[in-house]
Amino acid sequence: MGSDLEKVLLTEEQIQDRLAEMAAQIEKDYAGQEVLLVGVLKGAIMVMADLSRTLHRSYETDWMAVSSYGSGTKSSGVVRILKDLDRDISGRHVLIVEDIVDSGLTLSWLIANLSSRGPASVEVCTLLRKPDAMKVDLKVRYVGFDIPNEFVVGYGLDYAEQYRNLRVVGTLAEHVYSS
Ligand code: XMP
Ligand code: MG
Repeated sequence: MGSDLEKVLLTEEQIQDRLAEMAAQIEKDYAGQEVLLVGVLKGAIMVMADLSRTLHRSYETDWMAVSSYGSGTKSSGVVRILKDLDRDISGRHVLIVEDIVDSGLTLSWLIANLSSRGPASVEVCTLLRKPDAMKVDLKVRYVGFDIPNEFVVGYGLDYAEQYRNLRVVGTLAEHVYSS
């Protein structure tokens, strides 16, 4: 499985160190406030697991699954909810936990959708962002790493549902796409 990677962009240690820094910042920013962590399935599973366990107090977590219509690896911004939140978020501080912000279209739809439900605030925490791919002006409060505009897998991110379980983030070797 490791040999399917062309290169490792982020090692396990780099990811974990950065998540710990982000968690510390989140705890500082939300001191004394209750926050609901909303993970976006499926990509955010690893970020949610590791980030939330680095936090020092209990946080409620919930999940959404959305599908962005589009071909293959490109998203269109037209989004469908596959699984909605289990609980009402009105009056609550919501922190969306994402794996990656690419064009930003899915996320901007999600922010608008959640904002319409009357939360106290909606912010975003993402492990990865591709600044060169962003098509919308989005403010993302917590960004782990800005990465080049290349398709990446691992640490929750998939290619055809594979590679989510890698501990690193990397790009795939050409032979994977051509086989
Ligand atoms: P947008 O373009 O709306 O896309 O910001 C967000 C979603 O698209 C997926 N995505 C990727 N998945 N490697 C992946 O495995 C990538 O490099 C990549 N770029 C975007 C991902 O589901 C993300 O939430
Ligand atoms: Mg995602």
